[in-house]
Amino acid sequence: RTSDAELEERITRAKEFLGDRVVILGHFYQRDEVVRHADFVGDSFQLARAAKSRPDAEAIVFCGVHFMAETADLLSGPDQAVVLPNLAAGCSMADMADADSVAECWEQLSALYGEAPDALGRQPVIPVTYMNSSAALKAFCGENGGIVCTSSNAAAVLEWAFERGQRVLFFPDQHLGRNTAKAMGIPLAAMPMWNPRLPLGGNTPQTLQDAKVLLWNGFCSVHKRFTVAQIEQARAEHPGVRVIVHPECPMPVVDAADESGSTDYIQKAIAAAPAGSTFAVGTEINMVNRLAAQYPQHTIFCLDPVICPCSTMYRIHPGYLAWVLEGLAAGQVHNRITVPAATASAARTALERMLAVRP
Ligand code: 13P
Ligand code: SF4
Repeated sequence: RTSDAELEERITRAKEFLGDRVVILGHFYQRDEVVRHADFVGDSFQLARAAKSRPDAEAIVFCGVHFMAETADLLSGPDQAVVLPNLAAGCSMADMADADSVAECWEQLSALYGEAPDALGRQPVIPVTYMNSSAALKAFCGENGGIVCTSSNAAAVLEWAFERGQRVLFFPDQHLGRNTAKAMGIPLAAMPMWNPRLPLGGNTPQTLQDAKVLLWNGFCSVHKRFTVAQIEQARAEHPGVRVIVHPECPMPVVDAADESGSTDYIQKAIAAAPAGSTFAVGTEINMVNRLAAQYPQHTIFCLDPVICPCSTMYRIHPGYLAWVLEGLAAGQVHNRITVPAATASAARTALERMLAVRP
């Protein structure tokens, strides 16, 4: 077995040897042993932008999950290789919407609403996919007048969609969709859920006529663990605590929190707070623990007392990072992620639409 110190040294040595030829991107949820080697650390939106920002690098090593590496491949240059250190690092939420089920849903919606624009030129439905989805779904959005969003720009993206459409089909995360639409003043009754196993998604034609946002039945297994009871307990034990959660949490949790936002929002809120603040944070544990170590002037703890890591983010073990970097140093590209040409161009269209929206 290779020791942690040995892996650390191998990564450092390979990185030094490669220099500017390689850029390492790390999501906030990565473990510390990986994050410390990253050239950019950020949320999924910032990392998508970072992937575009180093066209000179031969390779982008993405310490995150599969859909993020696909996005980096779409936004980087054609000769740049995007590498995912462990191919088993997927996202269970992204897997909850597959291209066939979404196409089937779209067909039923087209039959119900027709395809003609209204008097204002708005499409009957605009598809919006959360970044946490396969490139095939991003391509579906690109082909059908739709767009991608992340947790940091979901409201601005929904506004973009409502300028162009009467309704939105939002997948895969029901919670981000519901929380964002609710904050925009859309009533819950106008947000039916689509269950892909049932005709009309389990809805009546009347409910669907009144719909503004159709929600897909997906969720994040990490964020759905947070509860209102945990918030009540944190408030009882820490008077004055600031509760801050990710918008992938269920709506009652977001409503009971003081504020919600993307991983970058959470980190910036903590950085800007006066010394001596107390934060209960509803997001992945590696990030919360790192924030607690980084800001010793505050008290920072995770809302969930039982450890809640994202098990797939955690699959990027430093051993894999050492392996891919040493491969690159020896002229071998391991675990390259390439979006097939058939889907790449439409997926890029949906991503570029998102990058042009100012939150
Ligand atoms: P953000 O990085 O956009 O906040 O998303 C969190 C997440 O779940 C990534 O998988
Ligand atoms: Fe997917 Fe949730 Fe993990 Fe993010 S935290 S990668 S949404 S399972």
